[in-house]
Amino acid sequence: MKYIFSPQHWRRGVWIGLAFILMTGASTAAELNTYLRPGAIPQPSNNLMTPNRVKLGKMLFFDPRLSGSNWISCATCHNPAMGWSDGLPTAIGHGQKILGRSTPTILNSAYQPLFMWDGHARSLEKQALGPIENEGEMAQSIDNDNGKLISLLAELKALKGYRDAFEVAYPGEGITKKTIAKALSSFERSIVSSDAPFDLWIKGEKQTMSNAALRGFTLFEGKASCVKCHSGFNFTDNGFHNIGLEDATDAGRYAIRKVKILIGAFKTPTLRDVALTAPYMHNGAYSTLAEVVEHYNLGGHATENLSPNIKKLNLTATEKTDLVEFMKSLTGEITPVTYPVLPAE
Ligand code: HEC
Ligand code: HEC
Repeated sequence: MKYIFSPQHWRRGVWIGLAFILMTGASTAAELNTYLRPGAIPQPSNNLMTPNRVKLGKMLFFDPRLSGSNWISCATCHNPAMGWSDGLPTAIGHGQKILGRSTPTILNSAYQPLFMWDGHARSLEKQALGPIENEGEMAQSIDNDNGKLISLLAELKALKGYRDAFEVAYPGEGITKKTIAKALSSFERSIVSSDAPFDLWIKGEKQTMSNAALRGFTLFEGKASCVKCHSGFNFTDNGFHNIGLEDATDAGRYAIRKVKILIGAFKTPTLRDVALTAPYMHNGAYSTLAEVVEHYNLGGHATENLSPNIKKLNLTATEKTDLVEFMKSLTGEITPVTYPVLPAE
């Protein structure tokens, strides 16, 4: 799959930015530019975003009929009122089953090269059908009628509203696994962060950041070196790291790539709108940003296979609150989301 902006490109940009910090010891204007939103939303050439595709994807995203129980939609867990997450330590799926990992936001997923905490899905299109068929999540067969349950394809094809919406979005392609995945992905790509106080500050509106948040930014790039992993516009290197969480039962990225440093390593999450998406971490270990900062301040809790970039920070009480204030400045005004009207027939 070709991306208009390859992740490699802007990762290189981030490295150039980091080199700047090392050379100058402070953020220069050029370095600040690495935090600016890329010009266009990245999208694959075989599924360019159109208003009709985004509209169809939104219907599917909010439609509980995508689940076996007809009760759980993507938005049940990726709830726009909660920063596109669910406010739970780990997700609750089909039959009230408590799942092993927390629900990440889908905000800015267009800018990511790999999906899921362990990065096993290589595109939004490849990810989209996973939760529908997963027994723990939505437990809905897409193309097999198995006696008790009618398949999703049959359910959607029975509704004229969907037949029409698929036809205008993907003319002649029909209602298939592929078009469902493409439409859901188009909608997800449309969910991008709005300008946060930090972005306005970079653009020259100097009063948008409090002094505490500004000191927090200096710490973020300097003494606390958070930027080693949370870098660039989306505040992630899209890499995988073991940051020393106490509960080390989940192999993380190691399950996908058998390299020792990846044991217990998870994808660096975005910090965009992070004030809205507690609890934090793949296992929901922390309820507040202050707890997260304390984790890093102690240099992690578990030392087995710890990333070399996680070290004791010796932050003062003020420095810790400054870091929290900085992270809050990455949360923008929430764009209200209207619910789609779903086809009744
Ligand atoms: C039962 C709750 C639940 C439902 C329903 C659900 N998700 Fe998720 N979603 C999760 C969890 C939990 C993860 C992380 C799982 C993991 O990493 O192993 C996730 C991960 C994702 C990701 C990856 C985000 C990232 O940053 O890596 C995307 C995209 C996504 N879901 C989209 C969807 C779509 C589209 C649907 C509907 C077809 C959906 N989800 C339904 C809980 C849910
Ligand atoms: C070595 C790379 C690395 C460094 C350095 C780092 N982080 Fe992280 N950060 C991660 C990874 C990886 C995760 C997810 C870990 C997991 O869930 O197992 C994470 C998770 C987080 C989360 C939770 C986000 C969410 O949505 O769950 C916050 C907040 C956070 N980091 C802030 C910071 C701050 C503040 C600093 C500096 C004090 C920092 N990070 C330093 C890699 C890093």
